[in-house]
Amino acid sequence: SRPYSIPASTTNGPPSFAFAFDIDGVLLRSSTPIPGAAKALKYLHRHNIPFILLTNGGGKHESARVAELTDKLGVPLSEENFVQSHTPFKQLVEGSDTIHALKDKTILVTGGDGDQCRRVAERSVPQDLVDLRRYGFKNVIIPGDILMANPTVWPFSQVFTDYYQKIHKPLPRPVDFADPAKSLKIDAIFVFSDPRDWALDSQIILDLLLSKDGILGTYSDKNGDASLPNDGWQQDGQPKLYFSNPDLFWAASYHMPRLGQGGFQASLQGVWDATTSGADLKRTVIGKPYPETYSYAESVLNNHRTQLLSGNGATKKQFGKLQRVFMVGDNPESDIRGANDFKSPLGIEWTSCLVETGVFRRGTKPKYAPGVIVDDVLEAVTWALKSEG
Ligand code: G3P
Ligand code: MG
Repeated sequence: SRPYSIPASTTNGPPSFAFAFDIDGVLLRSSTPIPGAAKALKYLHRHNIPFILLTNGGGKHESARVAELTDKLGVPLSEENFVQSHTPFKQLVEGSDTIHALKDKTILVTGGDGDQCRRVAERSVPQDLVDLRRYGFKNVIIPGDILMANPTVWPFSQVFTDYYQKIHKPLPRPVDFADPAKSLKIDAIFVFSDPRDWALDSQIILDLLLSKDGILGTYSDKNGDASLPNDGWQQDGQPKLYFSNPDLFWAASYHMPRLGQGGFQASLQGVWDATTSGADLKRTVIGKPYPETYSYAESVLNNHRTQLLSGNGATKKQFGKLQRVFMVGDNPESDIRGANDFKSPLGIEWTSCLVETGVFRRGTKPKYAPGVIVDDVLEAVTWALKSEG
């Protein structure tokens, strides 16, 4: 690869710019650092130039993931400069009536290895960690809990019984087809990360979306009733459906992009369309490219920048406002589109930089035009620093 020389001095004072780095396909391929990634982050860290990691990945609690990434990339990272796909759910737990009201209800969570996502959803950040970002859902079920309590709920997952035996927990209430009033009721469904057992997860989620009042094992008698608005589906107390990441593809270790959580969502949409003759599947999707995620990431970056630059006693007046964010990504659909379309409430300019080490293939025309196309993250940082003079 080309010998990159990052400019010796970057600015005359504290930078008015910062970076947001995507992870998969920019810094890592699965768990292997991409050449130049550690060098780029170490340079920014050494020159006190603020950055955050902004990924559609997830499945582990932020604290566990940043520890891993610090080790792999050789720069100190913390939850203060790290946003993953489901992180904004934490703010929603605190900041949105709908989600906040779910804290004490029963939610189904899927995605990630084993019951990692359960542990993420349940874990509350110690009170002394001053930030809104804590989950703290109290009653979290995973599909494996339901399968172990009712093996016939999906006839074909018995091959995974050893796996589910290890990670399941007893259900808080039985699935009692005979007496729905006593049966398990699910109030919301969160796809926190990429599901592993698409078949079981699809069956359980479909059962709940067709149920009466979120009671597993029942059918709503309203569904499909033409007299109801929106042809009746999801109008009978069924649980709300949340996805944390819309990525149809992502860059893992294999040389070709792999299906992501957006692939699972498209597959569930296909089952829903076939079941309901194409009724609208109501859902909430967060993650890049959606503005909610970019707005959340911008507030995390701004808070981190203030902490970083005031670390040596400088005042906000001295280091001034953040004016520009360079978003370095590998996926035109999430990283480039999101940065290009984001209208910052703080008037901050987002410039997208597309690298050729992930989903985007060199020589093709990206659907969303980035500020620049570069080989890799090191060249992106070099280009950005030169453009900032
Ligand atoms: O599940 C991870 C994948 O969706 C992409 O993650 O880091 O490229 O936003 P990232
Ligand atoms: Mg990526």
